[in-house]
Amino acid sequence: MDHFSYQQGILHAEGVDLHRIAAEVGTPFYCYSQATLVHHAKVFTQALASVNPLVCFAVKANSNLAVLKLLGEAGLGADVVSEGELRRALAAGIAAHKIVFSGVGKTREEMAFALTAGIHQFNVESDRELLLLNEVARDLQMKAPIALRVNPDVDAGTHAKISTGKAENKFGIAIDVAPSVYALAQTLPHIMVRGVSVHIGSQLTSLEPFRAAYVRVKELVQQLRASGVPIRSIDLGGGLGVPYVSGGSEPPLPLEYGAMVSALFADWDGELIFEPGRLIAANAGILIGRVTYVKQAARTYIITDTGMNDLMRPALYDAIHETVLVKQRDTAPTSVSVVGPVCESSDVFVNDVSMPLPAEGDLIAFRSAGAYGASMSNSYNSRLLAPEVLVDGAQFSIIRKRPTYAEMLQDEQMPEWH
Ligand code: LLP
Repeated sequence: MDHFSYQQGILHAEGVDLHRIAAEVGTPFYCYSQATLVHHAKVFTQALASVNPLVCFAVKANSNLAVLKLLGEAGLGADVVSEGELRRALAAGIAAHKIVFSGVGKTREEMAFALTAGIHQFNVESDRELLLLNEVARDLQMKAPIALRVNPDVDAGTHAKISTGKAENKFGIAIDVAPSVYALAQTLPHIMVRGVSVHIGSQLTSLEPFRAAYVRVKELVQQLRASGVPIRSIDLGGGLGVPYVSGGSEPPLPLEYGAMVSALFADWDGELIFEPGRLIAANAGILIGRVTYVKQAARTYIITDTGMNDLMRPALYDAIHETVLVKQRDTAPTSVSVVGPVCESSDVFVNDVSMPLPAEGDLIAFRSAGAYGASMSNSYNSRLLAPEVLVDGAQFSIIRKRPTYAEMLQDEQMPEWH
């Protein structure tokens, strides 16, 4: 469910005509709906109400401060994977005790910062990381609260580049090796074992891989508790998929996911943590560009002023974002390829899509771009980062401005020997 809809033939974000934003902000830009973000946070939390979840938004999906603040106020904590993300979550007012720190490569400095901030827990991904964390905590005379992230060797059935729970992936500790790492953890004086965590991949379109992973985690927890390891928290990760194109795959609803989890963990007497990213943010955001040229060649190319640097997902994961004209046209649908201006053959949003032929100057929208859109954007080809705009009802506000070309150049300098 989202709040982007056509009103008198013009795509609106909540009550705002996207032309109005384009006139003030220029193109390209990201636009988020506050109502959709808050709705998704509520739907997910309510679907899990019976297990009293700690829902930590995966900051990597959308790390804009205003978005994080909104989600924090809607009751979410944060799942972070770097000091930068942790600083963002804290700056957005999310309490440290609602923040978990994931990721395979936490550095000494990041650990020290997170310990001092007082985060809820570190999701530790190797024995090497555990030993370093113990050292860092010792130097600070603290105890680091941890879960071990286990790799259950489950095929998430998603794109290979966003699959994390197979044995060949770099993530987590093989589930059969985990007991020995817990045994090690219990010998470390500056480590406090809290729980187990798991995350098997992103954009999952079936409940089965989740269920398979969670069953394995439950068995592990029983085994650990039986051997005296005080497990009181299970972090079930994120990964629930969203619909990207109408008529495409329909991932399970949060309610279905919630029912599966509630049934599986009905007798669990500890804490349950979740780390959704995409589900909260993807359909709450769109990317708007403008048609620069309609080029007739072997194909009809719609060349826009937004490209793979603004939205990497099509080039990286063959993702398709539903592509629509902001102002509907009644010309007959024709087969076009929608592309960006970047000098790479992979700078293609979609090939051979049927849509009414736009005119040069028309606004074009790429839907479901609120997760892993702006947060993965970059300035390749020395293009300016696209700004971000938040809409609330009839009002909108720029929540990240477009940098100027002067700003783009200002941090670079000639070597002193030049
Ligand atoms: N927790 C951990 C440990 C993760 O690695 C991730 C995502 C999440 C939670 C959130 O997963 P979600 O609920 O958003 O599926 N850039 C890719 C997605 C990469 C996901 C990486 N990890 C894309 O645009 O599809």
